[in-house]
Parts: sequence; C-alpha cells; structure tokens
Amino acid sequence: MKYIGKEVSRVDGVAKVTGMAKYAAEFQLKNTAYGYIVQSTCPKGTILKIDTSEAEKLPGVLKIYTHLNTPKSKSQSGFVALQSDRILFNGQPVALVIAETFEQARYAAQLIQIEYKTEPFNTELEKAEPKPARSAKVRGNPKKAFEESPVKIVAEYTIPIEHHNPIEPHAAIAAWEGDSLTIFVKTQGVKDMQNHLAQSFGIAKEQVHVISPFVGGAFGSALNPHYYPFLAAMAARDLKRPVKLSYTRRQMFTGHGYRPYTWQKVSIGATEDGKLQSIIHEAITNSSSFEDFIEASNNYGRSLYNCPNYDTPYRIAKLDLPTPTWMRAPGMVSGAFALECALDELAYKLKIDPLELRLINYAETDPDTGKPFSSKALRECYIKGAELFGWKNRKFEPRSMRDGRWLVGWGMATGIWGAFMLPASVKITYKADNTAYVESATSDIGPGTYTVITIIAAEFLGLPIEKVKFSLGDSQMPDAPLQGGSFTTASVGTAAQGAALQIKQKFLELARKSDPVFSNINQEEVEMSEGYLRLKTEPSKAISISELMQKNGLKEITETYTARPSSERQKYTTMAHGAQFVEVKADEELGIIKVTRVVETTATGRVINKKTSHSQEIGGVVWGIGMALQEATEIDHRYGRMITTDLATYHFPVNADIHEVITEFVEENDTIVNPLGIKGMGELCMVGIPAAVANAVFHATGKRIRQLPITPDKLFD
Ligand code: MOS
Repeated sequence: MKYIGKEVSRVDGVAKVTGMAKYAAEFQLKNTAYGYIVQSTCPKGTILKIDTSEAEKLPGVLKIYTHLNTPKSKSQSGFVALQSDRILFNGQPVALVIAETFEQARYAAQLIQIEYKTEPFNTELEKAEPKPARSAKVRGNPKKAFEESPVKIVAEYTIPIEHHNPIEPHAAIAAWEGDSLTIFVKTQGVKDMQNHLAQSFGIAKEQVHVISPFVGGAFGSALNPHYYPFLAAMAARDLKRPVKLSYTRRQMFTGHGYRPYTWQKVSIGATEDGKLQSIIHEAITNSSSFEDFIEASNNYGRSLYNCPNYDTPYRIAKLDLPTPTWMRAPGMVSGAFALECALDELAYKLKIDPLELRLINYAETDPDTGKPFSSKALRECYIKGAELFGWKNRKFEPRSMRDGRWLVGWGMATGIWGAFMLPASVKITYKADNTAYVESATSDIGPGTYTVITIIAAEFLGLPIEKVKFSLGDSQMPDAPLQGGSFTTASVGTAAQGAALQIKQKFLELARKSDPVFSNINQEEVEMSEGYLRLKTEPSKAISISELMQKNGLKEITETYTARPSSERQKYTTMAHGAQFVEVKADEELGIIKVTRVVETTATGRVINKKTSHSQEIGGVVWGIGMALQEATEIDHRYGRMITTDLATYHFPVNADIHEVITEFVEENDTIVNPLGIKGMGELCMVGIPAAVANAVFHATGKRIRQLPITPDKLFD
C-alpha cells in the first residue's frame, strides 16, 4: 500500500491553522440579525409572568420570543425551546432576543423580568428513586455463585457529571428563501440535522440545506440537534432575514447534554486462584425528568472476561436537570472505571499481579454470546504494553516504590470498544486530468476524517494525495451516518474504497474495448496508478486513463457506492481492544498527583493513518487523565444549578499536566469487520485510562479512591 498505514499530515491542516477553515458562526450573510438566549434561573416550575417591555424599547432590538409568541415546532421529540410555560431545569431557555447586533441582543436580555412559581425539585442522584431500565439478560446464577465464592469484593464507585467542552461553541446561521432553509450549523450529522429541521417546520427534507464543513471539536455534544438550530431557523423565518445564534461558553453546559452522573456497585466472586465466578455490576445513571437517556455502563465487561455468572442490573434516576447525552467513550469509560478498579481490588485481595489476573480470565470467545471474535489481539496488547512499560519491575505492595519525596504507583487496565460499521455512501468524480473529487455527507469533528478518506480514495484511484479532494459536511452529499461511535472510517472509508473500485471497473470496461491486452483481464488483475490502468503482474502493460477518457469523449466519470455491514459480521463479535499502563507520582503532603508515564497499546484492526491515529490515542489518554484527576461539573443542589460552567472552574489537563505518553498499535488483519479491516479507535483509547490512573494511585498511596475525580482533598482523607 502506498498511503494506507503510512503517516500522512492532515489535508485540512493548513486551512485550519491559517483560519481558512470556516466554522458555523464564521459564515457571512448579508443583513444578518443576532440572537441571544435568555435562561431560566428556576430549576422547576412555571413562568408566571414574563415582561419584555423594557428590553423591547432598546435600540436595535428586533423581536423577543418567549413561549407566548414562538411558533410551535411540528416536532416535539427531544427538548424544544419556548413551547410552554413549564420549567424543567435551571438554565432552560425562556426567551430569545433578536437584535441588529449581538451586543444589543445580550444587553436587552438582561432587562427581561421573569416571575416563576418554583416547585420542589431534586438534582441529587442519591435522593432520587431510580427506576429499572433495559438491562441485558442474566448469565447463569450470579447471586448464588457470588455467595459460594471463596473470595469476594464489593465496592461502589461514582463519576460526576462531566461536559465535553469543545473549543468551538455550538452555533447556527439560518436563512430562508421562500420555504427553503439554508443553515450553517455545528453538527456531527448533517443528515440528522436536516431531518430534524424538516420535521420541525413540516417541510420536505430537500427544502433544508445543512452546511457544516468544519467542526471545532464535539465529542458527542453535537450528535443531537439540540434546541438552538430550531430557534435560529424559527426567528429567521419569522423576521425574513438571516439569524445567527451561538451559545456562550456558559450556555454550553445546559445546551447540549453531558456525561451523566454514574453510580456503580461491583460485586465480584472468585476462586483462590483468581478465576472469576460471578460479577454483579449494578449501575444507576441520571436522566432528566422529561427524557430517558440510557447509558448502560455496566455492560462493559460482559464480553471481556470469562465469568460464568454475570448480572448487570441498570436503573436511571430522573433528576430536574437537562438530559445527558453521549460523551466520548460513553458508557464504556464509566463501566471500565468501576470494573477495572474492582478487578484491581480483587488482585490485591488474592495477591495476584493485576495483569496476571486479566490473563487468567482472558476470553478466547465472547462469553456473552458464545460467538468467536472476528479478531482480538488483546493478549498481544497486554504483552507489548507490559514490556514497553517495564511492568515486570513493579513491586506488588502499595507504597513500596519511591522517587525521592514522591510515592510512585503503577496501575493498569483494559479498554474495549465495538468495531461498529453503518451504511454509508461515497461519490467519486474522476476527471480526465487525473484529479478526483470525493464526497460524502459525513463530518470531521477533529479525528482526521478529511485526511483518512482522502488516503483511501487516493490509494485505490492510484493518485497522489494532492490530486484527490474530499468534501464533507453538506446534506446534499450522499448519505452518511453521523460521526459518532468511532464508526466513521469503517463506514465511510469502506464506501470510498467501493466507489474507487467501481471507477476502476468502469475504466477496465473501456480498456477492454480499446486494447486487447485487457480483454480477458478481471478487476483484481489491474490497478490504477498515476493516471494509468496497469496490469499488476506486468506493470509495463498499461493504458493512459486520460487518453482512454478522451477516446470515449468523457470529461469525467462519476460513481456512487454504498457500503453496508456484511452479514458475515453477524457470526462474530466485532470489537477493538487495548491495554493501558500508567505511572503516577504522588505527594501526600501536598495532595499532588502527576501522571508521569502512560503506555497504551491498542488493537484496532488496520490503522489507515498512523499520524492522526497516534494523535487520537494521545488525545484519549489526556482525556482519561482529566477524567481521573480533574473533571467535574459541580451542581449547587440548593438551586439545582450547574456552577462550574466556564473553562476557569471546569478543570481539565493543560500541557503541563501531561508527561510521557507512548501509544503503540498491534495491528490485526480482520477482513470480517470490513474489507479494509478498519476498527474505530477514537473512543477506545480513553476507556481504560481513568481506572488505570486510580489503580496507580492505590499502588502509590495505598488509598483506594472510588469517587472521581481524584482531587487532592481525597488524597488527604
Ligand atoms: Mo461520540 S460520544 O459517539 O461523538
């Protein structure tokens, strides 16, 4: 392969660093009016009175929308703003000011007077009565097996609410022409956004044009459409001029969802020699009062370890907060924190090395379904990671390793993620000057989709990377799923390969007609390479593609290919795996914990672009460190209000917090997942990290901290 598996710099890198890449709020439309969202200060109740008269008198104010004058959305699925006087959470939008400038709108917003009737509310999971939600079926007899096990562990773990905090705030610019809407908007899925807006206004999909070429990070926060695109489009339609609406940083915290508060209890029964007998992994996550958000974190280990008895009861707690959503590695990273820490606790009880304990219970086939894995190089990840890290030099006892005043701890964990694939289409136009234009309605929220799809198309079209232009993020392009679940490269990449092969087939058919050399040749025997169609076995036998096109009077040829997950996949469990090894240094007197070294080994099928893939992995490690040590959205439960709603009080790692991070891939040859053998990696890479950090903290200090984040105060206790 010429490009696949090599290191390719981002094809959109220059555009991004020079400011040429346009994000949603940066498009310029003539006569644009600006919106500002007014939010409720009451957590639950009704709006008794809303007085906009003072605000309306201000210069530049065009109109103020409240529940009293906002047109109803024709789609009431999810949360729709300004539809009634009901208040469901603190920070709920209760008015939208539209003015000639953003500053005028923002100032006017402060003059709106609102009276609420506040009702009793609850924002604390511990005070809620959780209700059972969909749980996977029970394996064996977990209760009995637990009771009968000679060695038992029971432990509870909590993870606070966390927010995505992409650098780019959510924003939309909406403009109507008659009954047709054009919207520039931040989204992980232009097609989903198109459907949402078509339904909201009761118009055909074709009447909604969603444009989103660049997204400045999203991590799940732009999977759902959220309330602001409807508001922008509603106001633009009503005022008959373009409207731009953007969240402020603070508004991000209530405007797009969050990782739910998660309580987990893990009960493990094992034999003296470390064989797992029973796992009962309970979970409760919070949702809102008006939607059921399901994130069964406790399913994490079901397909990972051999354990004959397994139960994963799951409940949700309805709180008076906005609805949670998916956030990078949803469910899995939370479940891994509980189970991978509990296994560490078990390892200490048994006096077995934590890595050895994982190997004792290594599953060669999926214990949940009995199916074989399409590929699983987790053992190789453990071995390679341990070697790179120097795990064999670890002293088992906690507090047994030191570096001057620092206590040193080494911890490890496992990560898993599904090797998902969804139907996706790609269109390729090949021009007679040997350039190619590739299109798909996917998005690139940062992982490097522009680059990776360009690589795949260039590889199979036999063109230099610079001759291939890939465009995305437009609802008029061929269907693609939203960018999430780490399934984009597997889905859209397979379609890009398919479309390129179809182009090759077309050229082969033309070649057969004009050159007898090709008459009995099939697709596999030829390749496209630098503007030629060439016999693989006899490279000198080649035909110029541009001449072939000229001869046939063609300026370009276009092929669209839809890739679908194969039925063969059904016979297997398809997953990506990884192992994480972490070193921390802790200063007990100051409460400081530094993650000084991380080795992450990942088995994720074939890696298309080593460069961006390593940066994905490093990013996942950094996020995992943040989740372990820093991240929390604090709520003042007296007011039901999120309070760490800015980048000063919501902590995550900066460069100074990150030390050595080594990421290595163990490649797998897996043509069952898809022909190119691609598995996703963008979420997998953070899954085991918080657990590995917590386990390292225990090894360093002897303190088992089960409540994230592991902040200095918890080290002092
Ligand atoms: Mo991801 S949480 O599937 O955007």
